[in-house]
Amino acid sequence: MKLLGQFLALSLALPALASNIYITHYDGHVYALALDKDGDALKLTEKQALKTCGAMPSWLTLQEESKILWCTDENTPGTLTPLQIGRNGSIKALAEVTTPPGGVNSAIYPAGNKTFLAVAHYGNASISSFEIPFTGNKTIEPAHVHRFNLSPHGPKPGQEQPRPHQVFLDPKKEYIIAPDLGSDRIRIMKIDKKDGRLNQCGEILYPAGVGPRQGVFMDDGSKLYTVSELEGYLCRHDIAYTDSCLGVKGAGICDVPYTNRTLPKGATLSGIQGVGSTIHVSIRNDTQEGGSIATLHTDGKAIGPVKLTGSGGSIPRTFVVNKQGTMLAVANQASSNVVVFARDPKTGQVGKKLAELKVGKEGKVGAAEGISSIVWAE
Ligand SMILES: *[C@@H]1O[C@H](CO)[C@@H](O)[C@H](O)[C@H]1NC(C)=O
Ligand SMILES: *[C@@H]1O[C@H](CO)[C@@H](O)[C@H](O)[C@H]1NC(C)=O
Ligand SMILES: *[C@@H]1O[C@H](CO)[C@@H](O)[C@H](O)[C@H]1NC(C)=O
Ligand SMILES: *[C@@H]1O[C@H](CO)[C@@H](O)[C@H](O)[C@H]1NC(C)=O
Ligand SMILES: *[C@@H]1O[C@H](CO)[C@@H](O)[C@H](O)[C@H]1NC(C)=O
Ligand SMILES: *[C@@H]1O[C@H](CO)[C@@H](O)[C@H](O)[C@H]1NC(C)=O
Repeated sequence: MKLLGQFLALSLALPALASNIYITHYDGHVYALALDKDGDALKLTEKQALKTCGAMPSWLTLQEESKILWCTDENTPGTLTPLQIGRNGSIKALAEVTTPPGGVNSAIYPAGNKTFLAVAHYGNASISSFEIPFTGNKTIEPAHVHRFNLSPHGPKPGQEQPRPHQVFLDPKKEYIIAPDLGSDRIRIMKIDKKDGRLNQCGEILYPAGVGPRQGVFMDDGSKLYTVSELEGYLCRHDIAYTDSCLGVKGAGICDVPYTNRTLPKGATLSGIQGVGSTIHVSIRNDTQEGGSIATLHTDGKAIGPVKLTGSGGSIPRTFVVNKQGTMLAVANQASSNVVVFARDPKTGQVGKKLAELKVGKEGKVGAAEGISSIVWAE
C-alpha cells in the first residue's frame, strides 16, 4: 500500500491531445493506442504497452481535469493504480494501492469539497471508496469499504453472492448507482457529503435470475436504462427523487434488444452507452462475428426497433463513443482487437469500419482473458 513516488495534485494545463485510446488487458498491461490520419483514412497504432495495474487490469476511469486514468484490477488482492497521461499520450504509474479483490469498474464522485473514487468489487460483494487524488507519502487505505450481506442472492450459477458490476453517478451527483448481478437488484447508495461514505437508501428489484450488469441515465436524466446479463433484457425505468433517496415510478419495461427479440443461444448483453436519444448495447458471443452492437432509439414510451452491426471480433465486452459522436470504438475481448467504426451523430447508426488493431494476447471465449475495457481520451 505504498506510493511509488510522491503524488501531487496536478493542475498542469495540457495541450489538446490527439485522439488517444487506452485499453486494459487481462494479460497484465494497459495499452496506449493512437488514432491518426493516414491520408484520407484513419490508422490505429500501439504506442505503449505498460505492465501495470496488477495481474488483471479490468477498468479505466478518466479524470479529465488532471488527465489521470484510474485503473482497477480484478485480481486477489486488487490494486488501484492512477496513470498519468503525458503530453505525448504516454502513461506512467503514479502509485499502486491495495484494494479489496475483484474490482471491475469505478466512478469518480464529489462529496462536499472532496473527490472520491468508488470501485465495484464484483468478486468481493463490496464497494470501496478512496479519497483522490492521493497526496504526500502516506499509506493509502480505502476511506470506506461497504460490504453487502451475502444474502439475498439469485438462483443462477454466478449468483452465489451479491456481485456489484458497475458504479455510476446519478444526474444530480448525489447517489452512486450499483447494478448487482448476484442479487438481482440495482442498489442506490446516497453519498454522505461530509465524508464521502456511501449508504444504501433504496433499490430497484428485478425478478430472480435476471442479473443486471450495467446502466445509463438518459432523456435528461429522467430515465434509467439497464442491461441484464443473465436474461438478456434491456429495461427502462422512470426516475423519481424523494427527499431521502432516488427511486422509480411504476414498473419498468423490459425487452430483448435483438432484431427478433430473442438472443441467439449463448449470447449475452454486456456494455450499454447512451448518446442523445440513441442507445448502443454490446452483445457478446452473438452468432454474427462473435459479437455485435445493437443500436436503438428511445422515444420515451417503447424500446424501439433494433439495428445490429457485427462488432468485428469476438466478445465485445466494452465499447466507447467519441465526444462528437462520429465514431464508436469496440474492444473485442476474446479476439483481442479494437475496431473503430464510423457513427452518424444525427441518427446514431453505426457505419463502416475505419480502423482496426490487434492488441496483446487473445483470450478464450468465456474466460477472464483478452481486452477488459476501453476509454477514449480526446
Ligand atoms: C513520451 O514522453 C515520455 C515522457 O514524458 C517519454 O519517456 C517517451 O519517450 C515519449 N514517447 C515518445 C514516442 O515520444
Ligand atoms: C472543505 O471542507 C472542510 C470540511 O467541511 C472545511 O474544513 C474546509 O474549510 C473546506 N475547504 C474549502 C476550500 O472550502
Ligand atoms: C472481501 O475481501 C476481503 C479482503 O479484502 C475478505 O476478507 C472478504 O472475505 C472478502 N469477502 C467476500 C465476500 O469475498
Ligand atoms: C516521500 O518519500 C521520498 C522517498 O522515500 C522522500 O525522499 C520524500 O522526502 C518524501 N516526501 C515527503 C513529503 O514526505
Ligand atoms: C433470432 O435470430 C437469431 C439470429 O439470427 C437466431 O439464432 C434465433 O434462432 C432467432 N430466434 C427466433 C425465435 O427466431
Ligand atoms: C457461445 O455461444 C455458443 C453457441 O453459439 C455456446 O455453445 C457457448 O457456450 C457460448 N459461450 C459462452 C462462453 O457463453
